[in-house]
Amino acid sequence: MSFDTNSRYNYNFPTSIRFGKGVIDELGPHLKEQGLKKVLIVSDAGLVKLPVFENVLKMIRTSGLDVSVFSEIAKNPVKSNVLKGAECFHQTGCDSIVGFGGGASMDVARAIALKVHHKLDLFDYDDAIGGDRFVTEAVPYFVTVPTTSGTGSEVGRSTVIADDVTHEKKILFSPRLMAKKVFADPELTMGLPAFVTAATGIDALTHCVEAYLAKGFSPLCDGVALEGIRLIAESLEKATLNPDLESRAKMMMGALMGATAFQKGLGIVHSLAHPLSTLVDMHHGLANAVMIPYGMEFNASVSNQRMKTIAETIGLKNATAEGFISWLRELNQKLGIPQSLKDLNVNASHIEKLADLAIKDPCHGSNEKTVSRQDFFKIYQDAIK
Ligand SMILES: [Fe+2]
Repeated sequence: MSFDTNSRYNYNFPTSIRFGKGVIDELGPHLKEQGLKKVLIVSDAGLVKLPVFENVLKMIRTSGLDVSVFSEIAKNPVKSNVLKGAECFHQTGCDSIVGFGGGASMDVARAIALKVHHKLDLFDYDDAIGGDRFVTEAVPYFVTVPTTSGTGSEVGRSTVIADDVTHEKKILFSPRLMAKKVFADPELTMGLPAFVTAATGIDALTHCVEAYLAKGFSPLCDGVALEGIRLIAESLEKATLNPDLESRAKMMMGALMGATAFQKGLGIVHSLAHPLSTLVDMHHGLANAVMIPYGMEFNASVSNQRMKTIAETIGLKNATAEGFISWLRELNQKLGIPQSLKDLNVNASHIEKLADLAIKDPCHGSNEKTVSRQDFFKIYQDAIK
């Protein structure tokens, strides 16, 4: 891609990040320093039962703050989760919010942070209808603590919340929704089971790859994406099959970098993956993992050069687009990711609906190669064989 000297661009890089083993111990003192009195911790029902969560509560209390916990979060968060959480914030007299967990906890925490001082219906803030212009009020002090290395939502400024009845997903977006501080402590991910590590890890890899291949001019994002790919390529297998702190730390950094880079855009793989979650409730990372080789095969004719650079970056002997795609297939195999959608309860009867949803998905808008509904149909068909 030639260097664009004719246009004007905006680049925004993320919030303040505290990264490293043990930084979680700084959370309580940090909240105290801000003069806060009572924090609402938003997390999922599984996580709040673990000793690590108990320890965090203890540490915050020892720092002199009160704590309330909200954990009524669906796997794919819905509006009623957010409304209940906002009610909990007011009823318990909180002044700040900590999102603690994976993507769903972050999304609900961020949406609660929006809702508590914004009086319109939650979906009036839908980004698709220009709702970000109504995000004008103060947002409570908001901190994120990731416990998975995948979505990178901890550094994001948007949240995806579904309608309880229609399951239609809405994106609520505003730079005001960025966390004031991220505490990214790789030790918190040490207990993640292999499947979650693999699936969320491939999500992070897909963010980096799609951001790097996306249309648009952002040397800043390209650099971040490539280094993210390198870190993930050298650590995902180990982090999944035989984890140590270094591999988990590299994955956590790669996930932060993926979400930082994808402000440039995503691509065809996310548009193939989203309908699989909507229609058959497939884990987002797993859907990306199965679809990324197919998406890259489609892209290879146009994104050949950039895929070659990725292959060089990760040190492949066959440093070509084909070499990169073979590497993706081998990685999936090592991680136990199925090659075909038919192993994940998807069959030919789903393809029409999947293609309808995929073409409507906004992510492929930044894919370098234009994608038609027919293309999506054919890719799903190939992935089911
Ligand atoms: Fe993703």
